[in-house]
Amino acid sequence: MRIEGLKKGLFPLAEKINPERLPLHVAIIMDGNGRWAKKRKLPRVKGHEKGTEVLRKIIEFSANIGIKYLTAFAFSKENWGRPEEEINFLMNLLRRYLRKETKNLKRNRIKLSIAGDREELPIDVQELMRKAEEETKKGERMELILAINYGGRSEIMRAAKFMSQEGEFTQEAFRRHLFLPHVQDPDLLIRTSGEQRISNFLLWQIAYTELYFTPVLWPDFSEEEFLKAILDYQGRERRFGRI
Ligand code: FPP
Repeated sequence: MRIEGLKKGLFPLAEKINPERLPLHVAIIMDGNGRWAKKRKLPRVKGHEKGTEVLRKIIEFSANIGIKYLTAFAFSKENWGRPEEEINFLMNLLRRYLRKETKNLKRNRIKLSIAGDREELPIDVQELMRKAEEETKKGERMELILAINYGGRSEIMRAAKFMSQEGEFTQEAFRRHLFLPHVQDPDLLIRTSGEQRISNFLLWQIAYTELYFTPVLWPDFSEEEFLKAILDYQGRERRFGRI
């Protein structure tokens, strides 16, 4: 396929991708930052720092190849159980990311949306999120969804509560109460670092999602690894329960 704006030959696998069968929504569990750092005798947070750079690269690449929704699991509700120092570091990375990247996202016509229980986050982070969403809301090339303080069960409980208040018990009514009802379900879910689990990510939305697990640690992930996952996806037959 031709990848707009990218140097020819830089990503050899790109030639093999069928542009007609691109996954429109890719979700990623960015795992392995800690192990990447440990292997290099660096503090764990260095892995998160490198992981953020990789995320930035993958966001841009996704928009360039025509992905329409990219969801990244940046902070889970379970992550509050980590040492305070690491939590503070992750919050600061997020602050820095939102301050610095909003302009780039806007320039790249990428809309940012946050999924998660934001009211439990520090007030200034909530404010940065609100501003970033507001400033990028016209982006039509791709929507980037950052899952922050996100838990799949908690999202389901929340939607169930709102649904019962309304009194209409259907899948459509339920969906309207997800964090981002307008976002179509992921076609492909990638998890790095060799773990083969869902870890409370997008439980409702991944009913028919293709799962791809790679041993590559997130800080080592690259455009070529991303293309590998897409090629693997394109080799699968999606039947959605039919024959
Ligand atoms: C999992 O690695 C990764 C996380 C818990 C955080 C993911 C966050 C980022 C990549 C960067 C933050 C994003 C933004 C938008 C600033 P791990 O620490 O569980 O690794 P391990 O399993 O090897 O210990």
